Amino acid sequence: MLESSHQNLAMVTCTAPVNIAVVKYWGKRNEDLILPINSSLSVTLHQEQLKTTTTIACSRSFQQDRIWLNGKEEDISCPRLQSCLQEIRRLARKRRNTGDPTSDISVVSHKVHICSVNNFPTAAGLASSAAGYACLVYTLSQLFGVEGELSTVARQGSGSACRSLYGGFVQWKMGERSDGKDSIAEQVESESYWPELRVLILVVSAEQKSVGSTSGMHTSVETSQLLKYRADVVVPCRMVEMIRVIRQRDFPAFGELTMKDSNQFHATCLDTYPPIFYLNNVSHRIISLVHRYNQFYGETRVAYTFDAGPNAVIYTLQEHVPEFVQVVRHFFPSEANGSEFVRGLPVCSADLSEEL
Ligand code: DP6
Repeated sequence: MLESSHQNLAMVTCTAPVNIAVVKYWGKRNEDLILPINSSLSVTLHQEQLKTTTTIACSRSFQQDRIWLNGKEEDISCPRLQSCLQEIRRLARKRRNTGDPTSDISVVSHKVHICSVNNFPTAAGLASSAAGYACLVYTLSQLFGVEGELSTVARQGSGSACRSLYGGFVQWKMGERSDGKDSIAEQVESESYWPELRVLILVVSAEQKSVGSTSGMHTSVETSQLLKYRADVVVPCRMVEMIRVIRQRDFPAFGELTMKDSNQFHATCLDTYPPIFYLNNVSHRIISLVHRYNQFYGETRVAYTFDAGPNAVIYTLQEHVPEFVQVVRHFFPSEANGSEFVRGLPVCSADLSEEL
């Protein structure tokens, strides 16, 4: 924390990475508290890849709370922002009331100025809200000296954000309580558990998605019977299975489960009425390419997953990265064609050979 007693200003900067789900969260049972209808599991990317950096300053001289996202001032009264701010301030005051001698609480009553930037396209289905809210909540906690369980707070900013508070393989347990106290994120295995695992991001489009996750999943919960089946029957078994294959570092099984889960998530989007289309033609071609590649070798060497947008996230092992990248470049030469390719398809990303 940087402090200047002269201006009575305290300031903290933190970063939080994006996480990419391999068992997807889609659907809420409580929209205010952001309680999901199923548990989910994700891999948190390496800090230096896709990340949010947030600086928060607080000062007695600030008149009001304010926030800037990627350089543009946004409305601080957004209910989700307010939930996170209020909750962290409540926890900070609680700490003072319990008489924690290490707690420097003078800042809690001060207004904050929040400045947050992403190093990747916002709202293009690359989990920007996950990194954003995780970073906001963590940075506030550092500023106000709040310790302990923060995932229930980050969850109230954006559901998937609770998973970005931890590195490695992270599950968000849906919980059973109506107050959401048991709907928390937990690390399954650390970032060093499976060092050969790699993530490639194929940027198909950096445009904002047409249907946001929040409204999309709301309509799915209202209209899709497939989503209900998925949440009640499929995901509970899949979570157990996914944790097992991660612990065994069994890539073919991990890859197959990841692709099946992505496919079922997009099937629930199609089953939503009116239907939601997140994948485009290029996404479909990437899916076919991955299956053809795996069939050629007779084993699952690469796996795709897609969130609420057309960009592909590829999981593979280090040894297969160079060849698969070449294959992608061959089938999607970035300068070629017009249409989708002009926007910089495909192998952009985060440095392709970087570790998770
Ligand atoms: C497809 O966490 O963005 O990426 O809780 O409404 O903010 P809200 O939704 P959000 O949904 C993410 C959906 C997903 C799957 C996932 O990350 O698990």
